[in-house]
Amino acid sequence: MVDININVATKNLEKKGFLDINVSPELDLFKEIERLKKEKNAIILAHYYQEADIQDVADYLGDSLGLAQQAAKTEADLIVFAGVHFMAETAKILNPNKKVVLPDLKAGCSLADSAPGFLFKAFKEKHPDHIVISYINCTAEVKALSDIICTSSNAEKIVESVPKDQKIIFAPDRNLGAYLIKKTSRDMLLWDGACMVHEIFSLEKITKLKVRHPKAKLIAHPECEEPILRIADFIGSTTGLLKYTQRDDAQEYIVATEAGILHQMELASPGKTFIPAPPNNSCACNDCPHMKLNTLEKLYLCLKYEKPELIMDEVLMKEARKPMDRMLEISARYGL
Ligand code: 13P
Ligand code: SF4
Repeated sequence: MVDININVATKNLEKKGFLDINVSPELDLFKEIERLKKEKNAIILAHYYQEADIQDVADYLGDSLGLAQQAAKTEADLIVFAGVHFMAETAKILNPNKKVVLPDLKAGCSLADSAPGFLFKAFKEKHPDHIVISYINCTAEVKALSDIICTSSNAEKIVESVPKDQKIIFAPDRNLGAYLIKKTSRDMLLWDGACMVHEIFSLEKITKLKVRHPKAKLIAHPECEEPILRIADFIGSTTGLLKYTQRDDAQEYIVATEAGILHQMELASPGKTFIPAPPNNSCACNDCPHMKLNTLEKLYLCLKYEKPELIMDEVLMKEARKPMDRMLEISARYGL
């Protein structure tokens, strides 16, 4: 039995960001979530940075590109998005007539927050001869001001798809932007934003760790800073990193991205060792505090009561959809 007071919880929803209802510890959440999914024709889309239990109940688990592609083709009536706010927005932009719910409305993103729409608009207006390529980790307002969206899986191909003489603004991640400049030799104007998780890795500690584990390969997400990327054996999106550890024959990896991905790496390659890259602080965790606001209990409650629901402005959704569609078209062209 579930002890609930849905009316009180609904009243407090805006303040808290989630349905604060006690869930009985005796309830088999995995079973209940399965039952509710079928009853409601719901789909759970989850990012690799979610906690392991959420990954285990997801219908689709993936990186930002995979999640956007799944959202674009789903036939479910209800989309439960286990990720952060900008990801749920992306699913809603691609499904304006569907209900999109998320476990915790306050699951934000430091990178998306680094580019407020009004400031980005002013920046763009100063450079009218530039087109805008935005990383998907941005708000719907910034998406609506962009010409093409990209993710870490397709960014290189997206930049290369733009004519060589076309000037480009890249936002909001300065680290991914700098990495793309190096890879594509394009001179892009970068917005000065960054991800709080990927900027925290310590070069000094990683170097020492490599000495202790000489056979371990360093694999890194392109949101990491340049000194980390410079010494990485492989750089890729979360899906790219996971696939690399499956095909590569090393037995040990130092993983410079959010620690949630280790769950899938360990499941896919049970004999291998995965060491989270050490951060630049005393805590030994690489968890994204925003991603980890979601819990299995919150997921269960949002599926059950279909709250909190993501409500977006229709005009904003229409404008933000155009660069998203462009990204999906270009990705399909390259078989990504
Ligand atoms: P990808 O999902 O593209 O690997 O990006 C990682 C990330 O930071 C998501 O918040
Ligand atoms: Fe944002 Fe970084 Fe967290 Fe991804 S890992 S949601 S980019 S803060």
